[in-house]
Amino acid sequence: MNALKPLPDPEMDQLSDRHFAAIAAAIESRAGIKLPRGKRTMVEGRLRRRVRALGLDSLRAYGAHLFDSGGLAGEMSELIECVTTNKTDFFREPSHFDFLRDGAVREIGNWQGSALPSFKVWSAAASTGAEAYTAAMVLQDLVDAGRIRRYSVLGTDISVEVLREAQRAVYPREFVEPVPADMRRRFLMNARDPASATVRIVPELRGRVTFRQLNLMDPAYPFDRDVDIIFCRNVLIYFEKQVQHAVVSRLSSHLRQGGFLILGHSESMAASGVDGLRQAGPTIFQRIDKA
Ligand SMILES: C[S@@+](CC[C@H](N)C(=O)[O-])C[C@H]1O[C@@H](n2cnc3c(N)ncnc32)[C@H](O)[C@@H]1O
Repeated sequence: MNALKPLPDPEMDQLSDRHFAAIAAAIESRAGIKLPRGKRTMVEGRLRRRVRALGLDSLRAYGAHLFDSGGLAGEMSELIECVTTNKTDFFREPSHFDFLRDGAVREIGNWQGSALPSFKVWSAAASTGAEAYTAAMVLQDLVDAGRIRRYSVLGTDISVEVLREAQRAVYPREFVEPVPADMRRRFLMNARDPASATVRIVPELRGRVTFRQLNLMDPAYPFDRDVDIIFCRNVLIYFEKQVQHAVVSRLSSHLRQGGFLILGHSESMAASGVDGLRQAGPTIFQRIDKA
């Protein structure tokens, strides 16, 4: 009986108000992500895995480790991993991929002045890679149909954990259900073990997609400035208005003339008033600099 551990004190297993506010401020300043008080229970739930990993006995002790013992700097990337929301899907918001297949090819062809354009696509909050590989599937289809010459896709994210998964390109079978059947046959491989419930993106597509870590809050992005299409979907909603505006301005400076920025369905406002961008569809913006 004496070996039984006492139940944790519920007070000790919560962050103090001061520590929650300080964690929220640190995350917002580093990653742009707002953590209003309503997210406190979610944040506490996710941080419990850090309490266990560090061998601490409560969230109170974790807060003290961060702010009273100087642990914050060393824990920052773990904090960001814990609070990011990585939900994604293949062919999420499918009208964007219809646009990539049809409108964008025509328009970019006009701007490039070439009947067979080459495409550079950037998935700027790539999560586990579904967006980048969906773009690659559509573009590979266009190459096979003789409508474009070649393509490359860059996927970036702040989270190293999701990028590792993106690079592996292995997904549960039910996760790839939104991929049309003919593309599933051409672009997904079954695992060698027939009992496995996973599939992998074929090497031909993986070879065209590169993943790199990038924090959209960084003052400059060390990437090409002639990108044809940038997807920045379902991440700006976590940022303050001024941050959204700054991120969209920086991203648009990486678009070629006539290139497109595609935002998530509830994020259009983030691009309004950004210099050199004209709205080309409900969530689609085109870079056209004034002469
Ligand atoms: C909800 S997912 C969106 C994935 C994909 N774009 C989609 O729409 O399916 C949001 C992603 O944004 C990333 N993220 C959050 N803050 C970021 C930042 N400051 N810089 C870069 N990526 C960030 C998260 O790690 C997460 O993977």
